[in-house]
Amino acid sequence: MHITVVGLSHNTAPVEIRERLSIAEHTMEVSLQRLRADDQVLEASILSTCNRLEIYTLLRHPEQGLTAVGTFLSEQSGLDLVELTPHLFTYHHEEAVAHLLRVAAGLDSLVLGEGQILSQVKKMFRLGQEHRSIGPILNRLLNQAVSTGKRVRTETNLGTGAVSISSAAVELAQLKVGQGRGLDELVSLDQEQVAVVGAGRMSRLLLQHLGSKGCRGVVLLNRTVERAELLAADFPDLPVQCRPLNELDHCLSTCSLVFTSTAAEDPIIDAERLNRLNRRSSLLLIDIGVPRNISSDVQGIDGVGAFDVDDLQEVVARNQEARREIAAEAEGLLEEESRQFLEWWDGLEAVPVVNRMRRQLEDIREQELQKALSRMGPDLSARDRKVMEALSKGIINKILHTPVTNLRAPQPRQQRHVAMGVLERLFELRDENPDS
Ligand SMILES: NC(=O)c1ccc[n+]([C@@H]2O[C@H](COP(=O)([O-])OP(=O)(O)OC[C@H]3O[C@@H](n4cnc5c(N)ncnc54)[C@H](OP(=O)(O)O)[C@@H]3O)[C@@H](O)[C@H]2O)c1
Repeated sequence: MHITVVGLSHNTAPVEIRERLSIAEHTMEVSLQRLRADDQVLEASILSTCNRLEIYTLLRHPEQGLTAVGTFLSEQSGLDLVELTPHLFTYHHEEAVAHLLRVAAGLDSLVLGEGQILSQVKKMFRLGQEHRSIGPILNRLLNQAVSTGKRVRTETNLGTGAVSISSAAVELAQLKVGQGRGLDELVSLDQEQVAVVGAGRMSRLLLQHLGSKGCRGVVLLNRTVERAELLAADFPDLPVQCRPLNELDHCLSTCSLVFTSTAAEDPIIDAERLNRLNRRSSLLLIDIGVPRNISSDVQGIDGVGAFDVDDLQEVVARNQEARREIAAEAEGLLEEESRQFLEWWDGLEAVPVVNRMRRQLEDIREQELQKALSRMGPDLSARDRKVMEALSKGIINKILHTPVTNLRAPQPRQQRHVAMGVLERLFELRDENPDS
């Protein structure tokens, strides 16, 4: 059995490829079932975020299993594998484990150390359990990833400082507004007419950062106005006007800075829409949706500056160096967590031998118990029989406890193989499944 991850991320693929492989929560069950339908795929889970799509699997045979995952990705994206392959990474076993732990810790994120990724890893774990696509191995691995992410946030300084894609988006706005004034620096947003489209988690973070960057008020547009009102109520110090999404045209005509962060699957702003409006002379659009909320055809429209998640690199690079030093603190912790998982995994090698030994001892126990009971005659009470049964089981469990613990304990592989060989020889353990 092999643990693998196949995926793409902001490090390997541009947003136009990533958005084709974005899997919404409501379609996750079907996707997991399609993966699991291949008999090479023993366990599967999918991490789908704005910056990555990663498929973690336990495969029967690595090569045939990877073919199944490749076919799934190609069908899901509608892209030929030849087109997709240059954007994909594949890691096996130790590297796959290490990668997942880095991802959960926020060390592979575009904004180093951002916290949303841990919620997304938790979601992948929950969906894998709910849709029964994971078994004991990925269950253990994902559990370890979640606890690693939590440890990194509590035991290092990486979690301090409210960094997120949204905070980077607000910084990008500050930079672009500054550049519009001939300055290469982050400026206050106090002169901007700002709108935020969408009222979910990312919009909440946008409001948080806008408030602290000088913004004097926001028009918050959402499909469901009530949700926008609930969100606005959490920002008593920031004037927020809540509007239905059908007022988007008015907002695009009157605002100078518009953020989009909806989970819409198709663009909600495109060139055709912008061109028919009687707009202000300059409009800055910042889209953090994936799939993108703003079509790429708006590029080049006079007076419009449009940016998507990939453009956040520009501001992220500015403060990444300081965070990289903090990230180094987390590396030791990741190694420790990764070692723990791999030791547990190595210990699984002993399971077939332990099971055979347990079955052999169980057969002996059963035979000897029946002999003893028949010798004791029919007068034995039901309670006495139960006591005898429990006694015999107790002896077997006590005998097995120490060798099983020793076999599964962390140790060099060679040492475990020798111990397993000795047990097989001394107890003449039969291999009940010689072809597997
Ligand atoms: N979560 C992250 O860490 C993260 C990071 C970077 C980027 N993003 C991207 O940011 C976007 C929003 O993510 P989120 O986590 O904030 O989502 P969320 O909490 O689930 O909120 C979704 C928002 O999108 C709106 N929406 C959904 N479908 C829509 C449609 N067809 N037309 C118009 N509005 C629609 C919802 O409106 P209603 O209230 O009416 O349902 C809601 O305001 C996504 O594209 C995501 O990929 C997320």
